[in-house]
Amino acid sequence: MTPTAAANDRFLRACLCQPVDQIPIWLMRQAGRYLPEYRATRARAKDFLTLCSTPELACEVTLQPVQRFPLDAAILFSDILTVPHAMGMELQFLDGEGPVFSSPLRTAEAIRALPVPDAETELRYVMDAVRLIRHELAGRIPLIGFAGSPWTLACYMVEGRGSRDFQHIKALLYSDPELLDRLLDTLVRAVAQYLNAQIRAGAQAVMLFDSWGGALTTAAYRRFSLKPMTRIIGALERTGSDGHKVPVILFTKGGGNWLEDMADSGADVLGLDWTIDLGEARRRLGPALALQGNLDPMALYGSPELLVQETRSILESHGPQAGHIFNLGHGITPQTPVEQVARLVDTVHNWRP
Ligand code: CP3
Repeated sequence: MTPTAAANDRFLRACLCQPVDQIPIWLMRQAGRYLPEYRATRARAKDFLTLCSTPELACEVTLQPVQRFPLDAAILFSDILTVPHAMGMELQFLDGEGPVFSSPLRTAEAIRALPVPDAETELRYVMDAVRLIRHELAGRIPLIGFAGSPWTLACYMVEGRGSRDFQHIKALLYSDPELLDRLLDTLVRAVAQYLNAQIRAGAQAVMLFDSWGGALTTAAYRRFSLKPMTRIIGALERTGSDGHKVPVILFTKGGGNWLEDMADSGADVLGLDWTIDLGEARRRLGPALALQGNLDPMALYGSPELLVQETRSILESHGPQAGHIFNLGHGITPQTPVEQVARLVDTVHNWRP
């Protein structure tokens, strides 16, 4: 029996460090504004949250990139901030600014009052989207589910919006670390339950996005970012609805300093940004864990020749050993030329060690 339930199972095989015929590739934010068909669907939905919370629309945009390019995995179209939204925090996505919470968490009372939402009911629209996408994919490629890391969610919930210096959450960290632990503990329970619901609905791999772990000191990273993620990974149901193992991908942006710590989290795959050499990461970690990454998304704005060269140098740096999933080092950005994405996918699939 094959280890997975997809006709194209390269992605799942690579996650488990099993041999593959070609290096699998998918792209963070592969469904998004660089695609004209995404912009069209987005215009039909009133706003971004409506897009996320309408299963038919979420399914439609999830499938757009995989219909256009021969990608080896689909990723659920949603957002990490659906979880704090389900905890009762009013959320808006403003054009040109991104997510904004109208009442950021700034008091002990507000933190202590936060509920753990019931994922099956309060985030049911996400599970409905997962079921619909699995149905539409019909086993062609696997579907990745995801959530934000507790630390990254807490950053948005306390700051209220994107931040450069994380003044409010770091003030909390350095003045009342036990209260921050309490917030993170609530988020651990919410995220673990949310990912388990996605797995039950049909997600075949899950990824934790820790976009802001890299803003921490080493000691603070271990306590406030990695430890909560490790607890979540330990709480996941690792067998999917079809009886196959569900790999877990851990991505801390800016986490290259902490590879060995991240490898102890129980994750099957570490996602890496472009600041660390993939070959060096492989030498430091040995063969037991898969690595995902790590092209600088801005390389897609370069010349076709240099894009191909950069892509090949990442493939060569990792080398022929099993367990490489090609990806960008962070999300694809809105002005990316679509034909460069096609070139990237082609270059990866045509590469032979
Ligand atoms: O990868 C995919 O295709 C799946 C969809 C996905 C989105 N957000 C859709 C989205 C995923 C996996 C995310 C995760 C996410 N969301 C993260 C972690 C990954 C990362 O980028 O570090 C974070 C920090 C968020 C929070 C968030 N959502 C921000 C900061 C923004 C605004 C920035 C921006 O690009 O506009 C969003 C909005 C968002 N999430 C968009 C998309 C396609 C753009 C919204 C639009 O269509 O206007």
